[in-house]
Amino acid sequence: MLIDRIFNGNDAVYGLTVQAVDGAIAQHGADKAVGFPHTAYCLPCYYAVTGVKVKTLGEMKEALGVVKTLMTREQQLDDALMSGVATALCAEFIEALKYLDGAEPYSEPCYGHLADSIIREMGVPLVTGDIPGVAVILGSAPTAKEGVDLIKSYQAQGILVTLVGGIINQAQELGLKMGYNVRIVPLGKDVTSVIHVVSVALRAALIFGNVTPGDAASLLTYTKDRVPAFVNAFKPVDDVILAAGAGAIKLGFPVITNEDENVEEVPGALIGCANVADFNKVSLEARNIKIKITKIDIPVAFASAFEGEIIRRKDMQVEFDGSRVDCAELVQTRDMSEVEDHKITVVGPEVDEMEFGSKNSIAYVVEVAGKKMQPDFEPVIERKFHNYINCIEGVYHTGQRDMQRIRISIEAFNAGFRIKHIGEVLYSQVKNEFAAVVDKCQVTIYTDPAECTRIRHEVAIPVFDKRDERLDNLTDESVDVYYSCILCQAFSPSHVCVVTPERLGLCGAVSWLDAKATNQLDPAGPCQVITKERPIDENLGSYEDVDEAVRKFSQGALEHVTLYSIMQDPMTSCGCFECICGIEPFSNGVVIANREYAGMTPLGMTFPEMASMTGGGVQTPGFMGHGKHFISSKKFMKAEGGIERIVWMPKELKETVAERLNKTAKELYGIDNFTDMVGDETIATDPEALVEFLTEKGHPALSMDPMM
Ligand code: SF4
Ligand code: NI
Ligand code: NI
Repeated sequence: MLIDRIFNGNDAVYGLTVQAVDGAIAQHGADKAVGFPHTAYCLPCYYAVTGVKVKTLGEMKEALGVVKTLMTREQQLDDALMSGVATALCAEFIEALKYLDGAEPYSEPCYGHLADSIIREMGVPLVTGDIPGVAVILGSAPTAKEGVDLIKSYQAQGILVTLVGGIINQAQELGLKMGYNVRIVPLGKDVTSVIHVVSVALRAALIFGNVTPGDAASLLTYTKDRVPAFVNAFKPVDDVILAAGAGAIKLGFPVITNEDENVEEVPGALIGCANVADFNKVSLEARNIKIKITKIDIPVAFASAFEGEIIRRKDMQVEFDGSRVDCAELVQTRDMSEVEDHKITVVGPEVDEMEFGSKNSIAYVVEVAGKKMQPDFEPVIERKFHNYINCIEGVYHTGQRDMQRIRISIEAFNAGFRIKHIGEVLYSQVKNEFAAVVDKCQVTIYTDPAECTRIRHEVAIPVFDKRDERLDNLTDESVDVYYSCILCQAFSPSHVCVVTPERLGLCGAVSWLDAKATNQLDPAGPCQVITKERPIDENLGSYEDVDEAVRKFSQGALEHVTLYSIMQDPMTSCGCFECICGIEPFSNGVVIANREYAGMTPLGMTFPEMASMTGGGVQTPGFMGHGKHFISSKKFMKAEGGIERIVWMPKELKETVAERLNKTAKELYGIDNFTDMVGDETIATDPEALVEFLTEKGHPALSMDPMM
């Protein structure tokens, strides 16, 4: 019965797809290009499953023949599940046809196809458990309220929620704020749009997992073991939805449904649940997802899903702005006797006493004490404030140090949120996350303008200056140990980052100080000490100690890793790098692109295409993923001549790194305003024009030794 219904659904979708593809060929011809925007994987699902890139309508027609071979009709569960996969591939073809001719078939609030960059961005939050799972909600809930309650229950747990079909209308009806930034992503209203989340899961396997396209068995193992997704399907579940659900089950994603007619349960895979209010619990159990519970005594929600929430001017009660008035955020280490645990003090007016819509000063000083606390951890803790304050529903935070900006929304204010609650959040989170080093913590928040000026200029700035001095002096040579980071192994099983003072982790989120703190907080955790007592080649940055460590932490997958070379045994990439650099043969240099950059580079590749050259924990000489901060490091590709090799960067990235990069260029080579010699997309996106520009500027790379 169940099996027949899946076959039926599959046949129906297959028939529609054949019609659609034939129709499109009749209209546009077989040579017409097909593909999704902002991906290096053409039709990602079909490519992942078969290893073949479909680029034209004619090839799509051929691919339909391959799909047909998956549609066996034995009365076995596995035949039915493979028919589910076939259904998913058909859905991908139907969706791809919507994008013909560069069309933009989806509009607010729906997303449709998701770019490769979003998947890379999700890498770190997925491994840290910040995004503990991915929910796919399909169909219409019995009532809009039940649907929205379900969405919000996942959102409050940090789960990324994708929506397909009627649930989107229900969410709109109740005015739910949606968007990737609050982890609610409406995909589309047709059932075929569910493929866009499947596509994310399969690309994760290619990007992070080093799964070979076409190796369907490894692909399915990867999604089953490493992608914590599940489906909630509302009744009525027709044959087509059932066939799509079979595809999900084959990927290892359980389907939970309130449909009770004509659907037999498959233990652990197709699960009946009469009450929508129980979907959350049943789903998390079925997928074995554990939620970190943060219970903080404040009148609004606190969850990682709110981290990306933006408060617009018209929605804000008050704001604090370090770029206009005196502000600061600071952690200070104290003696045990000087700190009264959980003491929260507000010095100055509360939000009630501030004019509506006004710009105010704020400075918070978090004093911590603990036997294992070190001043080196102060900036590590401090940098987390951005994340903590942002996770408050209705509160928005950007910037750091004395340049932070905070907005409190009217809604949060009306719910009772006040300044003292910021103290409550800082206190709870610091105690939660830094329990191993912080025994006692107290928070003082100043809103009195004169006090803010005093704290900023007399207390905070001198501390920041001292820290900068320490960071400037923190070089690879000046420390005794480096650290490994294997956090990303959850998705990229053989990847190891070696983190040094001058080379931060490629995600940009783990500096040497962060790694050191992580090691102290959790000695058996992802960051381990790597000694550097047995150097092999200082110029390459190769050490016997480092080789031993990567061999051990990659379970033998890696033998040798150098710290300073892009050509010889370069460090591996997991996939969540901020930037990627690749060799540009005509100029003897390298091109760097950042994840945010959507355009073309002189390599003839976009960021996603460059990025697809490396990842999954394998070494790919000539391409290297890295953090933004690494660009101005004296150790950047030192073995190949260093930052002098940089010939092109997107304009925005260039501007971000200019000050520090120019300083390094001056120090190392005596070059003034080096970034003026570096091309960008407003100057050239093809190699000939780039070389012309570099020649005119006398760029040093042109006269350096060839890299290959
Ligand atoms: Fe992943 Fe490397 Fe960042 Fe660690 S430092 S989280 S392994 S990218
Ligand atoms: Ni001032
Ligand atoms: Ni990663």
